Amino acid sequence: MSLFRKKDLAAMLAQSEDGSKGLKRTLGAGNLIALGIGAIIGAGLFVRTAAAAGQAAGPAVTISFIIAAVGCAFAGLCYAEFAAMIPIAGSAYAYSYVTMGELVAWIIGWALIMEYALGAATVSIAWSEYLNKLTGGAIPYEWSHSPFESFTDSMGVAHSGIMNAPALIILLALTLLLIKGSQESAIVNAVIVFIKVAIVIIFIAVGWQFIKPENHTPYLIPAGQAAVTDSAGKVIADYSGAFKHGWGGVLGGAAIVFFAFIGFDAVSTAAQEAKNPKRDMPIGILGSLVVCTILYILFGHVLTGVAPWTDFVDPEKGREASVAYAISTYMTGYGWLATAVTVAILAGFSSVILVMLMGQSRIFYSMSKDGLLPKAFGDLHPKYQTPYKSNWILFVFVGLFAAFVPGSVAGDLTSFGTLFAFVLVSLGIWILRRKSPEMERPFKTPLVPLVPILGAVICLAMIFALDMQTLKVAFIWMILGLFVYFLYSKKTSKLNN
Ligand code: ALA
Repeated sequence: MSLFRKKDLAAMLAQSEDGSKGLKRTLGAGNLIALGIGAIIGAGLFVRTAAAAGQAAGPAVTISFIIAAVGCAFAGLCYAEFAAMIPIAGSAYAYSYVTMGELVAWIIGWALIMEYALGAATVSIAWSEYLNKLTGGAIPYEWSHSPFESFTDSMGVAHSGIMNAPALIILLALTLLLIKGSQESAIVNAVIVFIKVAIVIIFIAVGWQFIKPENHTPYLIPAGQAAVTDSAGKVIADYSGAFKHGWGGVLGGAAIVFFAFIGFDAVSTAAQEAKNPKRDMPIGILGSLVVCTILYILFGHVLTGVAPWTDFVDPEKGREASVAYAISTYMTGYGWLATAVTVAILAGFSSVILVMLMGQSRIFYSMSKDGLLPKAFGDLHPKYQTPYKSNWILFVFVGLFAAFVPGSVAGDLTSFGTLFAFVLVSLGIWILRRKSPEMERPFKTPLVPLVPILGAVICLAMIFALDMQTLKVAFIWMILGLFVYFLYSKKTSKLNN
């Protein structure tokens, strides 16, 4: 029984044509770019830009964005080749099952749980932050933070989280919506994309006048930057590590803001519905990346120009809901914008969470149909025809993280899972070119093996720039995955028959 047994591509394509009940090829390049932007712009931009600036990169978070974008572009080219060659749902998990075999597919599927499930948890935690901002801080710290978060305010009062209730509530609402089978139509998606992009552009345009050059000097965090403590003396930011200041900090910042690019791979899941996948998949994937990168760099430039980056580590200043904070504190006369931004951000986050939960339940669904996960993950609701059991299991799993784990921890694990999948997808393209040069490739990644190697190297560098704690937890997660595979999935796989 080989660990590298593969699913048959022809059979898989036939099965997907059959099962899709005539998915229509209706999406053009513009729709695909909108789909990508809809899944991409979210907590990464509105929360983690400030976190990266405050914790590692300072104003040079703009350069962090460029590094993360380059890594994504190389990996994106490889995704485009797979998406055009194997135009079926299931994303990287499905590609690798056909090309690299069951064990690699399992490993990618297991890593994708970190991307989608923990991604949903991270964005729901960010949603809670902005809801709190909108309600003027009406939700007590205890009920909007995980038990691992605490701080002492300037009055000397200690606060400690119990659970993040709003994050749990938004997850529950969206899970119920998903079970009902509410599909985001292209129009709804386009409206949300329009609102999100408009808010980003308005912030950049209005904020530009409030940039203070001294906030951008020095541009990198200096080597001797003193650690920041709260009023009880607890360290809340320490800049001594190699990836916490200077150019190392810029790379550390890239690993943090990488989260902001996650989602462009969602374009690849629509390969089956693209009018002309050969031409439009690469345009959709790379086009949404280019648009977002330009917006992100400008956004980072304005945000760190309007507010000093040191504000973004202070829990009593801009550590949370940083954009609304920067507007209401430094952009006099634009209080209305802070409220508008907050409402738009809440709507935007909801769509990202929805797409992530949906993506995860689809991957669980595919893995269950392949026999690698229990049948329950693939059971459909008798009335709504949605994988409702999978949605409920997912709610419990994601909810535990959202309620009890700090957003930065969930976000870093999300980045790890995604980066790991990108590395394997990049290497997969290279391996497949050598092993199966005869396969038909409607879109070809340029300069193979250079592009896949660079994609893998940049993504690996970002993995190593993540916190040691994140790497340890991720390692344990991946080892756990191998146990599950060898003790369960390998035996229950459909390929056994
Ligand atoms: N890129 C998505 C976000 O930033 C995951 O929320």
